[in-house]
Amino acid sequence: MSHLDELQKRRTFGIVSHPDAGKTTLTEKLLLFGGAIQVAGAVKSNKIKKHATSDFMEIEKQRGISVATSVMAFHYREKKINILDTPGHKDFAEDTFRTLSAVDSAIVVIDVAKGVEEQTEKLVEVCRMRETPMIVFINKLDREGKDGFDLLDEIEEKLKLKVVPLSWPIGMGQRFKGVYNIYKGELILFQPHGKQADEELIRLTDIDLEHLQPHIGEEAAEELIEELNIIREVYDRFDKEAYLSGHVSPVFFGSAVNNFGVKELLDCYVEISPSPLPRKAEERIVYPEEPKFTGFVFKIHANIDPKHRDRIAFLRIVSGTFQRNTNYFHGRLNKKLKFSNPTSFMAAKKEIIDHAYPGDIVGLYDSGNFKIGDTLTEGEVLHFTGIPSFSPELFRFVNNADPMKYKQLAKGLDQLMDEGVAQLFTLKDSGRKVIGTVGSLQFDVIQYRLEHEYGAKCAYEPHRIYKALWIECEDEAALKAFMERRRRDIAYDKDGQLVFLAESKWALKMAQDNHPEVSFRTTSEVVHKAIEE
Ligand code: G4P
Repeated sequence: MSHLDELQKRRTFGIVSHPDAGKTTLTEKLLLFGGAIQVAGAVKSNKIKKHATSDFMEIEKQRGISVATSVMAFHYREKKINILDTPGHKDFAEDTFRTLSAVDSAIVVIDVAKGVEEQTEKLVEVCRMRETPMIVFINKLDREGKDGFDLLDEIEEKLKLKVVPLSWPIGMGQRFKGVYNIYKGELILFQPHGKQADEELIRLTDIDLEHLQPHIGEEAAEELIEELNIIREVYDRFDKEAYLSGHVSPVFFGSAVNNFGVKELLDCYVEISPSPLPRKAEERIVYPEEPKFTGFVFKIHANIDPKHRDRIAFLRIVSGTFQRNTNYFHGRLNKKLKFSNPTSFMAAKKEIIDHAYPGDIVGLYDSGNFKIGDTLTEGEVLHFTGIPSFSPELFRFVNNADPMKYKQLAKGLDQLMDEGVAQLFTLKDSGRKVIGTVGSLQFDVIQYRLEHEYGAKCAYEPHRIYKALWIECEDEAALKAFMERRRRDIAYDKDGQLVFLAESKWALKMAQDNHPEVSFRTTSEVVHKAIEE
């Protein structure tokens, strides 16, 4: 098969949702359709996640398992589909954000009763920033929930997505009778617990009382006809180009646990979703059709066993063909590396692979060569963009609690930050170090891992910071004036970029008002400059 055929077969996406909306259940059903299975792993990770709200040791367990569910690949209708896991636990948010840089499209799962929830808003915002095409799946229709039109309004308002319903529910909860697949013009009748059989799928050319009534009864038929009329009047017709450019999101309804509406979603997904997309680098745009291999690291997973310091770097292939035992150029380190046992994540176990194509994710065993955002090429110097850091929510000073172990602490912190566990800022004035995280358990995880993996001890001290803002200013004098004025709040991130640690919302507003020449960003592009010789 040619390189072009290989890449056109590939579909790489992530499922984004708030915990408990049904992401794991949906993933399992999708894998079942593909005949692939890592179901046991998926279920397990979910179970642990559920109980991981108060005990950080559970997060450690989750870390061990999540390698298995990081990438789940399966074949369906001649496509090779890679699902990238976007962990739903609050404390994994940073990791999740970055995983979205490696997908080409996303499925957003929403609980029909709960509607749009907080984490979904955050994740969709990241997808929107990247213009990632998104399909929405409204789940749990076997339960009572919000009215369909109200939900569509909520999605448009809170997620700022322009929606086009491609399926429509007939009742819900006790009265749930099925869905009408607008995309295909088919009526699918609901039976609980995945007992859907082919005969329950009815092709309808005319949506009128006469044809609908025998299947769903008069009342439901009248309601459906009226609602489909409203849909026709209010929503645009589905336009694939608008979806592919991230401007319109098709919506499906179903019940993942009952395996209902999932096949319709998957069938539409493989028809409309994009094959591997080009990626922007600082230097140029890189197209998947290009013959030369390029790829970037979007996630690093440390070995849970402290005796084995090796890690797995997850590499998304952007162009060309990745080959085993071939020398590739690591731009930031300015050196060549080759990989004798790159793994793919197909089927139940990891497998060593010889080739991988754009859209694929390869796991590379790493003894410390990689940072998130690193690029591999056949020699070209490239820096892929769009793998941002986001301002953490919680901040603490980190101090060395064992003066004899200074080096170990520095090394441990450095490596944990490379993994993307948290962010480290160094205050320009005092040289003190500040750790920023998305969830409070992450502080315990860092302390635990520093002690058990690096033999170092750290202590925390509270530090009131509202947000970390990356600053930029073309006017050198204005920047200097700002930095003088706010001397105590200026820090460097671990890539040496300037950051303003705003103490409060008010402090940020003051800074913005008093220094209009300075721009303040809540995200940073991770840009690793090549190490100077
Ligand atoms: P998550 O990965 O997004 O966190 O959600 P997950 O799939 O674990 O689903 C959360 C809960 O919602 C699970 O119940 C799951 O069975 C249930 N669920 C998923 N899809 C549907 C659906 O279509 N209808 C209904 N009624 N429930 C659904 P649980 O009791 O928390 O766990 P479990 O014991 O069932 O595994």
